[in-house]
Amino acid sequence: MKLELEHVTKKYGDTAALRDFTLTFEPGIYGILGANGAGKSTLMSLITDNVKRDGGSILYDGEDILDLGDRFRSVLGYMPQQQGVYEQMTAESFLSYMGRLKGLRGRELRQQVGEVLELTNLLDARHKKVGSFSGGMRQRVLLAQALMGEPEVLLLDEPTAGLDPRERVRIRTFIKELSEDMIVLLTTHIVTDIESIADKVLLMKKGELVRVDTPQALIASLPADWRPVMGTPSLEDVYLCFLGD
Ligand SMILES: Nc1ncnc2c1ncn2[C@@H]1O[C@H](COP(=O)(O)OP(=O)(O)O)[C@@H](O)[C@H]1O
Ligand SMILES: [Mg+2]
Repeated sequence: MKLELEHVTKKYGDTAALRDFTLTFEPGIYGILGANGAGKSTLMSLITDNVKRDGGSILYDGEDILDLGDRFRSVLGYMPQQQGVYEQMTAESFLSYMGRLKGLRGRELRQQVGEVLELTNLLDARHKKVGSFSGGMRQRVLLAQALMGEPEVLLLDEPTAGLDPRERVRIRTFIKELSEDMIVLLTTHIVTDIESIADKVLLMKKGELVRVDTPQALIASLPADWRPVMGTPSLEDVYLCFLGD
């Protein structure tokens, strides 16, 4: 399982939303940090092929994702940042609907709906309308739909947006537990969402990948004269040092 991006570029008019992005993703959790407009969502839209790239290549196990087409989509789970939630559907019917879109049918479909409801702790709420859900439950049902079809590549665009601290912790724990043998990309602008779960952290700024490394290595790479915000240096210092103005 390997997702290789090479020199990927996306422009909107004169501005590059993503500039010459090169990185190979292997199973594990990649936390993507950057301010609004850094290019995080663009990166995900390019991988899902919702947006056409202007240059570069995206290969999955050596084959271009555009050539793989449906074969790549079938291993992809995507939780977009801008979500249309089907207010009138129950959680269960929403997940069945999304599963059918992914080609699941019959017993396999029912089984997976049950599994993702259980994983996201929504079994008790499965007959309730999504429109009646709290913010945390909505995020969980959207995470559940991304998990339908047992994806190998899971793209989560700000999965903890709008959640209270208790819900953030819960979602974070889910993601950590799920991530075995999956390539997980998770964007956020909140450092604490990823510092304990990310195997690698990407720092993005104005469409560029500024740095990528393990949290520990990033912290170790802070300049010797850097003065930590609090106590010992943390990923927050990394953010401020490399992404601050
Ligand atoms: N559909 C679009 N049309 C024009 N500009 C866009 C569009 N989508 C994104 N951009 C621009 O691309 C840059 C990166 O945006 P985005 O990928 O959404 O960043 P992030 O998700 O990190 O906040 C921003 O400058 C944004 O304004
Ligand atoms: Mg975004």
